[in-house]
Amino acid sequence: MSGPNSNYDPVEVAPLHPEEVAAMRADAIAAIEAAATLDELKAVRLAHAGDRSPMSLANREIGALPPQARKEAGMRIGQARGAVSQALGRRAAVLEAEAEQRMLAEETVDVTLPYDRDPRGARHPLTTLQERIGDVFVAMGWEVAEGPEVEAEWLNFDALNMGEDHPARSLQDTFFLEPQDAGIVLRTHTSPVQARTMLSRPPPVYVVCPGRTYRTDELDATHTPVFHQVEGLAVDKGLTMAHLKGTLDAFATAIFGAGVTTRFRPSYFPFTEPSAEVDLGCFVCRGREPAVTSCRTCKGEGWIEWGGCGVVNPRVLVACGVDPATYSGFAFGMGIDRTLMFRHGVEDMRDMVEGDVRFTLPFGMEL
Ligand code: DAH
Repeated sequence: MSGPNSNYDPVEVAPLHPEEVAAMRADAIAAIEAAATLDELKAVRLAHAGDRSPMSLANREIGALPPQARKEAGMRIGQARGAVSQALGRRAAVLEAEAEQRMLAEETVDVTLPYDRDPRGARHPLTTLQERIGDVFVAMGWEVAEGPEVEAEWLNFDALNMGEDHPARSLQDTFFLEPQDAGIVLRTHTSPVQARTMLSRPPPVYVVCPGRTYRTDELDATHTPVFHQVEGLAVDKGLTMAHLKGTLDAFATAIFGAGVTTRFRPSYFPFTEPSAEVDLGCFVCRGREPAVTSCRTCKGEGWIEWGGCGVVNPRVLVACGVDPATYSGFAFGMGIDRTLMFRHGVEDMRDMVEGDVRFTLPFGMEL
């Protein structure tokens, strides 16, 4: 059996060479300092202090050294391993503290935040007002009718006794769809639903039709090219202007409250004869002097223009297949946007079309 290799020069055992050990130690410490997370540090620990790390492998070489060289080499490698282990410990402590700080910051609960950070939104008041109007009439036994917004020119005008030369038919008022001679328009009022209803069923007819209407107006404080109307039509035996007045009084009371008054002013519409404008007694100042002079709602008039109405012109009944010798009818049409304006003191129509939830929210979530 051969004895220990007493001539062995430890300097020749490469991994235990002082420069080699210093380099391994420096590599390990640099990698430890560079580890930015605990996971990275774990990988560094494996690479530089694990069983298969260069330093552990070098440590195993000690036994191969002659006894007189083992002590020095053992001290060198031992110190290096100790330094690496300390550096690992220090870095772990720093990274753990950082991770804890981050977790505390991320999981902080700010008890001063409002409990509901998702704004709920609100239904548009024009929608709820249209539904409410529908409800008022349904409660009186009427039906809610609908018609298309893209309408036949004939139903929008001709059937309603508005002939070829009627000024409202000009391009300045009406949106025509292309090709222009196709006779298709965006309905300028809800009145074509009258014609559609009469053409689709025999009397008696009691319908209201709230809906969107279009005219070529510029958008400003008092006009919008897209607006809303509600149309009413009753056709039955023996209907008179008195039934119209009673119906509109009930309608006005339901929308503006008990005590509101209405008045008819003689007017003209091609589709009614006789025709009237219906005004509401100002429900803000109630037409009382002297407050009446300063009222912003009625501009001191004591009355507010609400819409048009009348007894259905027999020519319209005939055009829609209803015998005027047996039946008569009454009709009315109101602007819903206008109704919302003076019911709620909205002063600028643009607020109604912009879709800003700050406008709609104060009206509440009426369903
Ligand atoms: N269609 C008319 C307009 O847009 C409003 C109107 C007036 C409708 C009198 C009617 C009515 O049904 O009888 O100005």
